[in-house]
Amino acid sequence: MADFLAAITKAEQGERLTQSELEVLLGAADPASEERLRRCAYAKKLAEVGNKVYLRGLIEFSNFCRCDCLYCGIRKSNPHPRRFCLSLDEIVAAADFAWQNNYGSVVLQSGERRDDAAVEFVGQAVRAIVQHSRGELGITLSCGEVGVDAYKYWRSCGAERYLLRIESSNPKLFARIHPPEIRFDDRMKSLYELREAGFIVGSGVMIGLPGQTLADLAGDLEFFRKMDLDMVGMGPFLSQAQAPLRDPDQRPEHLEARFHLALRMISLARLHLCGVNIASTTALQTLHPDSGREQGLRYGANVIMPNVGNLEHRRDYRLYDHKFDLDENAEASRQNLQKNLAAIGEEIAAKSRGNPPHYYLRTANAAGQKA
Ligand code: 5AD
Repeated sequence: MADFLAAITKAEQGERLTQSELEVLLGAADPASEERLRRCAYAKKLAEVGNKVYLRGLIEFSNFCRCDCLYCGIRKSNPHPRRFCLSLDEIVAAADFAWQNNYGSVVLQSGERRDDAAVEFVGQAVRAIVQHSRGELGITLSCGEVGVDAYKYWRSCGAERYLLRIESSNPKLFARIHPPEIRFDDRMKSLYELREAGFIVGSGVMIGLPGQTLADLAGDLEFFRKMDLDMVGMGPFLSQAQAPLRDPDQRPEHLEARFHLALRMISLARLHLCGVNIASTTALQTLHPDSGREQGLRYGANVIMPNVGNLEHRRDYRLYDHKFDLDENAEASRQNLQKNLAAIGEEIAAKSRGNPPHYYLRTANAAGQKA
């Protein structure tokens, strides 16, 4: 308890936390301690990014994937999902929904492909959305590790943000959840290449992986800081029936504990980083379909990514079981959100691209250093 008080007091005074202090706060699971952490993180969020929630329309446009990540439902060796790729028209229609409903940006997400046709297709999709929205919609890509030439090409087409999770910043744990051909060093290289290509870069981890310790998660927070990330997206690890990496304990109380651990990670990311965008993710909502994303916002997140694709392919894009958005169409999701956000004092930032303040700080610093 003494450790908790020392660490939380430091956080409340705006001081930087050490890795062991982060670990102490991550482990403080009793409701009173967690609430104190939440309040501290929420105050920092209000000071840095206000109570505005940025909406990103998520377009899961293809589930073809060359990877066999041990946790993932669309891994290449899973025969169950029907493989699909939306047409350019379907992608633009989904982006149009986002645009008409005042979302500031869209996220194009897919499995990983590196062939020229796939790279070109993503470029065309980006161009088509830019043209359709007269450049108003911001575009984020989340298409895996594809190579610096593709990143530069996509950047030149008009995409400006990229999400690539490190999944775990502990190389040993990373190796345990991926097949040998997916290498930690390559993932790191890709993150640097994305930065080099001029993207606003986001990364993140899964929380509650088998064998993951609080020290690992504290290390992840330190990693985000060292990598000077602009955006963070994290969610609880969730079992997927056909995936080799199983969750050893699926009891409700265990999942509830993981949900709260993910919330504390959000609070600590807010406290440990400066001016970043933090997503309240679908995985969080999956564990608490009624309020998961809203809770994420109360713990310090400021971005929500509602699915704007049509319902037809959702079942084939199940990264994990019970993914919550399988039956909720884009319109119902928008209406629900608006109501729920008002109830917790948060407001939708209409039409705003919502680039993270961190990005402007980082680029201004870099310009200053060059000058
Ligand atoms: N549980 C939780 N998150 C998962 N993802 C993939 N599979 C799972 C799972 N079983 C996350 C990964 C990936 C993102 C797109 O989805 O972190 O980067």
